[in-house]
Amino acid sequence: MNTASVQNDNTKVLEVRNARIVYTGTHRNKDVVAVEDVSLEIDRGRSLGIVGASGCGKSSLVRGIMQLVPLASGSVHVLGQEPARMSREARRRMRRHFQMVFQDPGGSLDARMRVIDLVAEPLKVHKMARGDELRDRAASCLESVGITEDMVDRYPHQFSGGQRQRIAIARAIVTEPDLLVCDEPTSALDVSIQAHVLNLLRDIRRRRPIGMLFVTHDMGVVRQICDDVIVMDAGRIVEQGPVEDILRAPAHPVTQALLKVALEHHAGSALG
Ligand SMILES: Nc1ncnc2c1ncn2[C@@H]1O[C@H](COP(=O)(O)OP(=O)(O)O)[C@@H](O)[C@H]1O
Ligand SMILES: [Mg+2]
Repeated sequence: MNTASVQNDNTKVLEVRNARIVYTGTHRNKDVVAVEDVSLEIDRGRSLGIVGASGCGKSSLVRGIMQLVPLASGSVHVLGQEPARMSREARRRMRRHFQMVFQDPGGSLDARMRVIDLVAEPLKVHKMARGDELRDRAASCLESVGITEDMVDRYPHQFSGGQRQRIAIARAIVTEPDLLVCDEPTSALDVSIQAHVLNLLRDIRRRRPIGMLFVTHDMGVVRQICDDVIVMDAGRIVEQGPVEDILRAPAHPVTQALLKVALEHHAGSALG
């Protein structure tokens, strides 16, 4: 696979067709259908929100997209390629183009590594830099998320939750991915810190036309960071469209309920 062509030729960074995800024989040996017949696409430069109540299948869908669980049926294409059908090695090489930020910034960072090495690692793995350049690029990426040079030799536990999430974001964007998948990246953070992290993600989109998939249970967050939104319930899409339209005229009861919660939570500020 030619990486240059992957990067330049596709306006569509993600395409999911009729995805179905089933966990087999887990709960009392019953199958759990977590995702059913979900289709979506994201163009370069666009941000798509996936919103829905806890347990509706958001994280399972993300795991399917990131190739962390298999699809029972349907397909996932990233930049026009289908990772599920690639060799392990080709898939590994392709991973620099689609990266992920998890909810728990602590758990996704190896506690024994200095943050400079955590951010340098993806560059090293994908042979994008070495020697002095490796450290320089990692440091400048950390700088771009507000972690200054004097802090980069510290370990993750020496940072606050918000700083750790910014380090996780640096690690995810350092390979300049075309698709960034975020699964509730601000849900574990204090409200004041949430705003910093959302601003940072907005900045990243301003700097490069990256495709973003943003999972949240909070319509207020969708309003701040997404162009389009998909509402899920019990594994299925129940409503979708441009954020403006959905906020103005939510059609499905699930969407209406999510909006009501967000309006109460944000007291009108983020949604008003
Ligand atoms: N590893 C798993 N094994 C079995 N069931 C799971 C697993 N992960 C999630 N589920 C089930 O799949 C459904 C969707 O969960 P999840 O994708 O985590 O939803 P969300 O992220 O929207 O909260 C839930 O019913 C959940 O209990
Ligand atoms: Mg989840």
